[in-house]
Amino acid sequence: MKTPVIAPSILSADFADLEKTFKMLNQSEAEWIHLDVMDGNFVPNISFGMPVIKSLRKLTTKVFDAHLMIEKPERYIHNFKLVGVDVLTVHYETQIHLNRTVDLIKKIGMKAGVALNPHTPVSLLKDIIAELDLILIMSVNPGYSGQKFIEQTYQKVAEAKELIEASGSKALIQVDGGVNDGNAPKLFASGADILVAASYIFNHDEPLKAVRNLKYF
Ligand code: DX5
Ligand code: ZN
Repeated sequence: MKTPVIAPSILSADFADLEKTFKMLNQSEAEWIHLDVMDGNFVPNISFGMPVIKSLRKLTTKVFDAHLMIEKPERYIHNFKLVGVDVLTVHYETQIHLNRTVDLIKKIGMKAGVALNPHTPVSLLKDIIAELDLILIMSVNPGYSGQKFIEQTYQKVAEAKELIEASGSKALIQVDGGVNDGNAPKLFASGADILVAASYIFNHDEPLKAVRNLKYF
């Protein structure tokens, strides 16, 4: 039976002991690891960047899924490839020439994703959907982990699914923000392929069990 891919976001992990975090993630059933890169401009918060990702790359063979919450992300596409990112997602709201950015990400050998803020409609992706590997639907306003899930997300996931099916695109649908064991089943039923979670996993007494709770229901 198909299950969602789980992508723990290390934003809620203990940054003083990321080696321990990665030992846990390597034992877990999570297939991807979600890396939230923030610049203090596109979002209020600042997280981490290329040097940290480069060090973390030595700790796991799992898929590195970088979510860029930065202005002009096209400046750094090569740098993210060099530090070992596999899937690179930029925000729709940061782009003037989205096609050019997506083309470059794919040309240098990464999968290309586009993220939508909660107020950005799915329909804006109509003319580029065929070229995308991933649509990231934000279910909170980006910037912080631990925020409340926005209920309208189910509808947006269903719209993304419809758009993908109508266009014959192979894009996967990822949901990010406030994901927990309560909303995971309905998100998966609405068409989500990949579930990102930070606080639900890292604040859980048993993070390995938390990953399973999101994957099997
Ligand atoms: C928010 C980030 C998310 C965040 C999710 O801006 O993009 O990936 O870490 O955190 P939770 O799962 O706690 O909402
Ligand atoms: Zn994220």
